Amino acid sequence: MRYLLLFSILIFTSIQATAQNYEPQVNALLAKMTLDEKIGQLNQIPGDIVTGTDVKKDNILNQIKTGQIGSILSHTNFENKFIMQEAAVKETRLGIPLIFGFDVIHGYKTIFPIPLAQAASWDMAAIEAAERVAAIEAAADGQHWTFSPMVDIARDPRWGRCMEGSGEDPYLGSRIAEARVRGFQGRDLTQNNTIAACTKHFAGYGFAEAGRDYNTVDMSEQRLRELVLPPFQAAAKAGSATFMNAFNIINGTPASMHKHLITDILRGEWDWKGMVVSDWNSFGETITHGAAADDVDASAKCINAGSDMDMAGGTFQRGLKKAIEEGRVSMVQVDEAVRRVLRLKYSLGLFDDPFRYLNRDRNKAEIMKPEYRVLARSVAAKSMVLLKNNNNLLPLKPVTGARKKVALVGPYADSRGNKDYMSFWTLGIGFRQYDSTQVVTPAQGLRPALEAMGYDVITVPFCATGDCGEKDYADAMQATASADIIIACVGERGYDCGESRSVADIDLPRNQESLLKVLSRSGKPMVMVLFNSRPLTFQWASDNVPAILVAWQPGYETGNALADVITGKVNPSGKLPMTFPRHLGQVPLYYNHFNTGRPQTQFGTLWTSGYLDQPVTPAYPFGHGLSYTTYTYSDIRMEQKTMPLNGTISANITVTNSGSMAGDEVVQCYIRDMSADVARPILELKKFERIHLEPGQSKPLQFQLTAADLSYWNQDLKFKADPGKFKLFIGGSSVALKEVEFEVVK
Ligand code: NOJ
Repeated sequence: MRYLLLFSILIFTSIQATAQNYEPQVNALLAKMTLDEKIGQLNQIPGDIVTGTDVKKDNILNQIKTGQIGSILSHTNFENKFIMQEAAVKETRLGIPLIFGFDVIHGYKTIFPIPLAQAASWDMAAIEAAERVAAIEAAADGQHWTFSPMVDIARDPRWGRCMEGSGEDPYLGSRIAEARVRGFQGRDLTQNNTIAACTKHFAGYGFAEAGRDYNTVDMSEQRLRELVLPPFQAAAKAGSATFMNAFNIINGTPASMHKHLITDILRGEWDWKGMVVSDWNSFGETITHGAAADDVDASAKCINAGSDMDMAGGTFQRGLKKAIEEGRVSMVQVDEAVRRVLRLKYSLGLFDDPFRYLNRDRNKAEIMKPEYRVLARSVAAKSMVLLKNNNNLLPLKPVTGARKKVALVGPYADSRGNKDYMSFWTLGIGFRQYDSTQVVTPAQGLRPALEAMGYDVITVPFCATGDCGEKDYADAMQATASADIIIACVGERGYDCGESRSVADIDLPRNQESLLKVLSRSGKPMVMVLFNSRPLTFQWASDNVPAILVAWQPGYETGNALADVITGKVNPSGKLPMTFPRHLGQVPLYYNHFNTGRPQTQFGTLWTSGYLDQPVTPAYPFGHGLSYTTYTYSDIRMEQKTMPLNGTISANITVTNSGSMAGDEVVQCYIRDMSADVARPILELKKFERIHLEPGQSKPLQFQLTAADLSYWNQDLKFKADPGKFKLFIGGSSVALKEVEFEVVK
């Protein structure tokens, strides 16, 4: 209840819509600028060069004063930002303020669960509220702009950055993209507690071949438009102030110089007016890709494609002037890019008051407020996904009679370090924000909660240092010998996910599986809590451990959120946003696949699309997640079974909480187009609703679909629906579905 109130306050305070027109000011300023000053506005440099040093002594101030820098990224020192902003506004010819950008990925100072975990909540209000908090903190620390949300659809768990997105589905991903943009930007960017969003990475980055970061991406225009682009379009429509290029080539062309993507689609078809920043040196890397000869060529190709600002590469600084002088880039193109940067600065209110984000009182008052922790705890609990719960082992029941003993075992049982399960962004950039003393470890959260229920808790950190020997197993066995229940905290380290953190093996680390095997020999009931940033494979555990809870990387409130779920204070409601395969060899494995001409319905059937050694089905499908209660779904009722092409169709269903505990259910509505101009996926998520049900309570729900919901990109690359038979499904996961048929008629 407390967090519900907090959600509404946070969202409600994200203020009134204002669409200001700054064109007269922008044009007047542009008219005064020299070419060098213009190129300076397109130059963003990494501020971590000066972090912790005396900025006054650093060459950076000279560069600012001579108008060579328009933006600073990844700078954390508050006082240094003052000095730099002063240099920009007081000591340059035109006094143009700097814009500070930062990767605010899952919280700024108050660390929330990783984005993939948040996606598992399917709770748009919670996600928006989490980003609102992140924006308030970042803004109070002098950041104007976040490089978030990452909306890359990902089907490959090897890819380290799937942790930063919303999983495999373009519809869920689109709704989350909007929620994140709303959370960061509120409805008025000129407020000093809202920051500009940067939707990234445009585009296709999540489809890197073999899940290897930065690798080649090649896909049909249909796949691009149906799978990759929808969340970008949703973010653009929600008003995302900026976009970021991707590192990869897509269909042969580096994304930063992909005119079709940036100019034709983003700015053309979607009529989006914002600013496009490169990814870190991605203009320069067009040369490494072999698609540009040198800085001049790279500058010309990137700006002519529609990209505006150069992040951390210095390519424009070295090459753009010459490209203009050689007539390869027009002044019109340069002016347009500079206009976009200036507009962004105006829309953030930086010309009115360049120091509006640099208020020392706010810096003290607005960061790490206790209520943010309340929210972080509830978001973390909502993100957890109960994969399996044999014999209702969870929640743990209050002890009646003599006290019982819980053994909390495993490398993450009492872990708090960022090298462990508390991911905070990548490559060390965000680590400076991460304060491991703030983490509530599983043991710290679970111990008081379980003690109050009549359990004693012993903690057995297993192989915490990484090296495992016989003794570690023996110690774990011995320590658990007297326990009544075992909770095994296993998974991957936070440091194993994020940028440049792809893996070729997604199995639970061998020593941890061995630990589970050793512990299971005791015959004691065991709960496996998985700390993970990507879908992992753990077939042995699935077959042998009675209860499995996916905790992801839950942030500072890990232990408390875990205690809430394990004790039943919070009834789990998370649903997987990404398929968990049985075996790495199945990857990419996703729910919205095509049928093929020879679908396999039974393992082992020859001449069907399958494997000799594995079923084609996942370990845990998209949308799956159990609860401590049960929900029953009525049949689907439809008033008419035909839908005129330009009309709508409604499907009704009643969901009942048929168990004994109140809970939230995420009701999912999918369709299948049975015959179209091209083959269509066997399921496509079209709507969902998260509902609360008291025990015995029923709720009628209606899902209404329009032609837009049934449309697809046909052979002529037109987005349209056409007449024919459809199936509609509603249920609590992509494999537990009620089904009806309907027909679209002309
Ligand atoms: C590279 C990453 O790909 C991007 O997402 C991030 O925003 C920048 N580095 C800046 O840190």
